Amino acid sequence: MTKIALFEDKRIILGVCGSIAVYKAVDLASKLRQAGAQLDIIMTEAAQRFVSPLSFQAVSGGPVYSDMWRAEASGGLPSHIAHIALAEAADLLVIAPATANTLAKLAGGFADDLLSVTALAANCKLLIAPAMDGGMLEHPATQANLETLRRRGAHIIEPESGRLASGLIGSGRLPETPTLLGHIRRVMGLDGELSGHKLVVTAGGTREALDPVRYLSNRSSGKQGFAIAQAAIDAGAEVVLISAADLPPPVGASLARVDSAESMRAAVLEHISQSSALIMAAAVADYRPRDVAKQKIKKSDASLSLPLERSPDILMVVKAQREQTGYPMIAVGFAAESENLVENASGKLRKKGLDLLVANDISASDAGFAVDTNRVVVLDMDGGLHRIDLTSKAAIGAYIIERVGGLLA
Ligand code: C5P
Repeated sequence: MTKIALFEDKRIILGVCGSIAVYKAVDLASKLRQAGAQLDIIMTEAAQRFVSPLSFQAVSGGPVYSDMWRAEASGGLPSHIAHIALAEAADLLVIAPATANTLAKLAGGFADDLLSVTALAANCKLLIAPAMDGGMLEHPATQANLETLRRRGAHIIEPESGRLASGLIGSGRLPETPTLLGHIRRVMGLDGELSGHKLVVTAGGTREALDPVRYLSNRSSGKQGFAIAQAAIDAGAEVVLISAADLPPPVGASLARVDSAESMRAAVLEHISQSSALIMAAAVADYRPRDVAKQKIKKSDASLSLPLERSPDILMVVKAQREQTGYPMIAVGFAAESENLVENASGKLRKKGLDLLVANDISASDAGFAVDTNRVVVLDMDGGLHRIDLTSKAAIGAYIIERVGGLLA
C-alpha cells in the first residue's frame, strides 16, 4: 500500500461497533495507516467483545479509545476531555462497521458512550458503513434512522449483498477494504480543488473485432487512466471514466464500458458536453479490420491478409467540437513513443490542439504498459516541458490532475 497524498496531515477517527464484520475494520485501519492517515480509533463496548483493542492498536499505530470516563486519555490532543479533543481534531469520522444500535443512537442524538458522544461533538464529515444481519437492515426503524442521517448530510456506504454471518443470504455485508477506502477518498476529496468540475477520462486499449471471437488490440492495461480518474475523485471532481479495460473502477466514478474506437468516440462525444476537461489516456487503435466477418474466420493453408482501415481519431473529432462549443475546456492527450519522444510529442500536441500532452517512452521495460510505474514527459502549449522520473502511476495521475486544476483556475 503506497501513501495517498489526500491523507497527508489528515486525522481520521475510525469508530468501530460490535458487528461480526469488525475484523474487516482491523484491515481498514492497517491500510489507512499505510496510506499515511493519522488514526484515532474508538471502539464501542460491544466491538471489544469481537476484537481486542490491542489488534487495532498494533495495526493503527495510534491510540484506541473506548472509555468515556477516562478524562486523561486524550492522546496528546489539546483538550483533556477525550471526546471534545478527538472531535475537534478530526477531518473525517468513519464508522465502520456501524450497527443498528449505533445508527439509532446517532439518529436520535444519544450520547452514552465515547463513539456517540464524539459523533455528537464533531463538525467534520461523517461516513457510515452499516453492517448487520438478517432483517435488521430492512427494518423500518433502521431505514428511518439511515434516512435521518442522510438528510443531515452523513454519507452512507451501501451494505453489500451476499452470505451473512447467520447463514442467511441478504443485504448487510460490510464491503471489503478497497471499497471502504474508495469511499473514504471520495468523501475526503469532496471540497477539493476540482469540486464542481466534470472530468472525462478514457482508459485502456480498444478492441477492434475481426469476427465474433477475435479482435485486434494493444498492450495498454488502463492502469494510468484509472489512476488519473482516482486522482480526479481525490480532488473532488465528478468523473466519467470511459474504459476499454477490465479493471475495478474507483469508487465515485461513473463508468462507461466501451470496446472499439468507434464506441469510445461515441461515448466521449456523449459525455464531453459541459465538461471541464477530457483526458485521453486510452490507447485507441489507429487501424481496424475493414470488414468484420459474421462467422468465425476459418483456417486456411496459407497466410491470411486482413485489410485494415483507419479508425476515427477521437482527439481530432473533439478538437472540432471544442472549437464550436467551448467544451471540453481543457484537453489532455497521451503519446506512446519509441523514438524521438519530445519532437514527436510536441508535434502531436499542436496537431491535436491539446493543452497538455503526456509522453511516455514505451521502449523502457519498467514504465508504460501493464506495470504500475511510469516515466513521462509532460509538455504544454507554451513550450513548457516537465520530466517525471520513474514513479507510480498514482503519482503521475496526481501530477496531471494538479496541472489540469492549474489550467482551470
Ligand atoms: O497520434 P497518437 O495515436 O500517438 O496520439 C495519441 C493520443 O491520441 C492519445 O491521447 C490517444 O488517446 C488519442 N487517440 C485518439 N484517437 C485515435 C488514436 C489516438 O483520440 N484514433
